[in-house]
Order: sequence, then C-alpha cells, then structure tokens
Amino acid sequence: MLELRNISFNVNVEENDKEIIRDISLTVPDDKLIVVTGPNGGGKSTLARIMMGIEKPSSGQIFLDGEDITGLSVTDRAKKGIGFAFQQPVRFKGIQVLDLLRIAAGKTLSVGDACDFLSAVGLCARDYIDREVNNSLSGGELKRIEIATVLARGTRLSIFDEPEAGIDLWSFQNLIQVFQSIKKRNAGGSILIISHQERILGIADEIVVIREGQVSTQGPKDEILPGLIGSADATMECRKNGIPHTGSDEKEDCREEDQE
Ligand SMILES: Nc1ncnc2c1ncn2[C@@H]1O[C@H](COP(=O)(O)OP(=O)(O)OP(=O)(O)O)[C@@H](O)[C@H]1O
Ligand SMILES: [Mg+2]
Repeated sequence: MLELRNISFNVNVEENDKEIIRDISLTVPDDKLIVVTGPNGGGKSTLARIMMGIEKPSSGQIFLDGEDITGLSVTDRAKKGIGFAFQQPVRFKGIQVLDLLRIAAGKTLSVGDACDFLSAVGLCARDYIDREVNNSLSGGELKRIEIATVLARGTRLSIFDEPEAGIDLWSFQNLIQVFQSIKKRNAGGSILIISHQERILGIADEIVVIREGQVSTQGPKDEILPGLIGSADATMECRKNGIPHTGSDEKEDCREEDQE
C-alpha cells in the first residue's frame, strides 16, 4: 500500500513560488487499480514523479507498506518495488530490448520469458528482442516496450502515465487486457494509471480526479465515472485571480495583459 500524506510541491518560476501540488493525501491500496484523471496541467505527472522519487516533495511524506520512503532515491524505490512507465518514454541508445527487460526484471530472465512480456503488449517478440532501444523505434513501439519492462519488473506498485498515448486502436484493446492480466498476476501489488481515456477509467476500481494540484473528486468508479463524462473536470478553465471565466472576454483579457 502506498500512502501520500499532505504532499505539496512548489517550483520557483521567475522568482515566484508556483504551487503545482497542494496538500494531496492519497492512499493506493493493495490489489486495487486506481485511475488518476483530470485536466491537462492539473499535476498528475508531477505527482507520479513524486511517487517514483524523481521529484522530492516540498512538504509531506510518502509511505510504502508503512515505511517512510520520502527520502529514498529512484533506485531505492525501484528496489522496493515501485515501477514506472513515463508519459514520454526514454530511449536508451546501445541497449537492446532484451537487456532492458533483464535490467527491469532485476534477475536472470530467459529469452522465452522476455518474449512473453513483449507478446503481452502486442509486439511480435522475435522482431524486437534484439532491437536497440533508439530512435529507430516508433513512438508506439517504444511505449509498448516500456509497458513490457513494467510487466517484467512485477512490482508492488506499477505506475503508468498515459499508457494509451501513441498506441493504435487495435493495441489499445489489448492494453486494457494487459492491465487486467497484470492485476490478476500481480496479486498483492497495486496499479496506478494516469489516463484521459474512458475505457481505461472503465476498468478502474477507484478514480481520483486531480485538478489544480488538488484531489477534486475520489471514489469507486461506479460513483465517479458517470459524473465525469462531459463535466468541467474534463476541461481546462481559463482563470483569473482564481475565478473561472469563459467566453469571448477571455480573448479580451489576454489582449489587455499583452498591452500591460
Ligand atoms: N519544473 C516545473 N517548472 C514550472 N512549471 C512546472 C514544472 N513542472 C510542472 N510544471 C507545471 O505544473 C503543472 C502540472 O504539470 P503536470 O505535467 O504534472 O500536469 P498533468 O496533470 O500531468 O498534465 P497532462 O494531462 O497534460 O499530462 C503544469 O502547469 C506544468 O506546466
Ligand atoms: Mg501528464
């Protein structure tokens, strides 16, 4: 179980503090599939990076199975079983797909097992196993290989940031099955998926909506999903002084600011 307690994250932009995450407390229970959604720029990827240890929170604590892991590095958290697939996967020149899967697994992985992970994400394993993880791979291929590395790791907590991005429709169907099978295979582990896709929201046990750096809604899928579709949570509002405003006057405001 992963627990975030009162997590805040500020960055300094042009000598002003900008609050990206504001006092988020969140529990990711074992054996649950949590889908985090919300408007662009709401803070989802930042929160995922904080869970992974890539960013350190400005305040608050993170616990994995009751142990305070706030001060642990990415590597130490990975050793404890937190796996992560980026919104934009990283390319590793000079490393073959098989090596990458073996590094992720952290143990000797047979070619057969590696092929199984690639097949699970819809790739013809023999065509990819010896490929270098460089620019010659398409965006969708790279994304699938990265998902396969999270499968290979078999983690306590698997975090996927917009796994659907760049994946074609046919593979998207498979992706849903991949997540369902990870859930079955990874008993005791939890999965957190950041997504804007209704079909992915549809397989969630719980949905968390993050908006303006805060949890705006949270609860079982059946309670949250119907209210989300077509709601303001699906859009980015134009705000001035914290007050939402819509319509043509937005353009006027921007022009005014341009002239200032
Ligand atoms: N280092 C930084 N410096 C300045 N602003 C930042 C920094 N990191 C993130 N932000 C801002 O914080 C906000 C949240 O970004 P984040 O990537 O977490 O959003 P998101 O919810 O994942 O959005 P999307 O749905 O578009 O992926 C954005 O407005 C982003 O521009
Ligand atoms: Mg994001």
